[in-house]
Amino acid sequence: MSEATGRDDPLDRLPKVDLHCHVEGTMRRETVIELAAHNNIELPTSDPAELYHYSSLDSFLEVFWLVQSLLVDRDDWTRLAYEAVVDSAAHGLVYGEFFFTPARHLEQGQFLADIVAGLDEGFAAAEQETGAQVRLIADMDRAHGPGAALAMVSQLIDLRRAGATGMDRVIGVGMDSTEEGVNPADYVAAYELAERAGLRRTAHQGETTPPWTIQAALDVLRCERIDHGLSVLDDLEVTRRMAAEKIPLTVCPTSNIKIANHVERLELHPYAEMRDAGLLATLNTDDPALTELDLGIEYRAVHDAFGYEFADMVAIAGDGIDASWLDDDGKRRLHARLRSAAEELQDSG
Ligand code: HPA
Ligand code: ZN
Repeated sequence: MSEATGRDDPLDRLPKVDLHCHVEGTMRRETVIELAAHNNIELPTSDPAELYHYSSLDSFLEVFWLVQSLLVDRDDWTRLAYEAVVDSAAHGLVYGEFFFTPARHLEQGQFLADIVAGLDEGFAAAEQETGAQVRLIADMDRAHGPGAALAMVSQLIDLRRAGATGMDRVIGVGMDSTEEGVNPADYVAAYELAERAGLRRTAHQGETTPPWTIQAALDVLRCERIDHGLSVLDDLEVTRRMAAEKIPLTVCPTSNIKIANHVERLELHPYAEMRDAGLLATLNTDDPALTELDLGIEYRAVHDAFGYEFADMVAIAGDGIDASWLDDDGKRRLHARLRSAAEELQDSG
């Protein structure tokens, strides 16, 4: 396999899915600057790159919230969504389930209907241009508490029932932001409501907290996936169960270095160990623009760090398809596309 990078890299061109990407975390630097100017928001520095150094998840969240604050009206969401897909598709994204976390926007008076409609407009335009497909996961923000989470899910369901624009794109709920000091079980009412309405369920868990929190997300919140789930290997029983039940983990190794500061180098990340334990550990970007990342770079980095072959990376891409919330037909079609692209790229690589 060649050592090429960027678009010359077969791993960049390989059709890939991203199941753990925060749409706000895809905001281009130019867009950060332009939206700040447009919305009269003062940035602490004129060079966003200076902002993008984090010593912990909580210090990252300060920057994430600043970026979120730049999204003021519906058009801002549309621009963000459009650019997110165009930029991801340029590095092989064919299908994404992207998070958005509207708690602070709702608190400041924005309407969920406008946010979703804005995102939908941008996604639709980019889908048409790139052929990639994107769905949305509405994340509850733990920093805003269980009451706000329940209100958000309840609004979501009302809008869905009313057939509001873009709502068919929202296929599930999740939960992100700070983990420490939060018992996932406190969010059971919101998750129960989501399940009754037929929404899929995931949660950021085990990024900075022990495996019992993962277990609570599975047993109490009835999550079907776990985002990050880094601490899973600390508990043999939870590991065995997740492997046996093929409960996917959406792992983001580069994020875990740059955001959570979990390990110093990729070689020290438990990703390969997770896969060796039989876990359905998929590969994803988290907040690509805020960590100077894209899917192609992530696949290349993991390939190099763990001595994986091209075929291993194809298997990882295939696991992403299996872990998605596409229906069986959608999964079959993506698998076929992956297979034929992999054969072609293998020959050219
Ligand atoms: N963890 C928690 N919250 C987040 C993250 C993350 O990795 N990215 C954006 N919000
Ligand atoms: Zn995340």
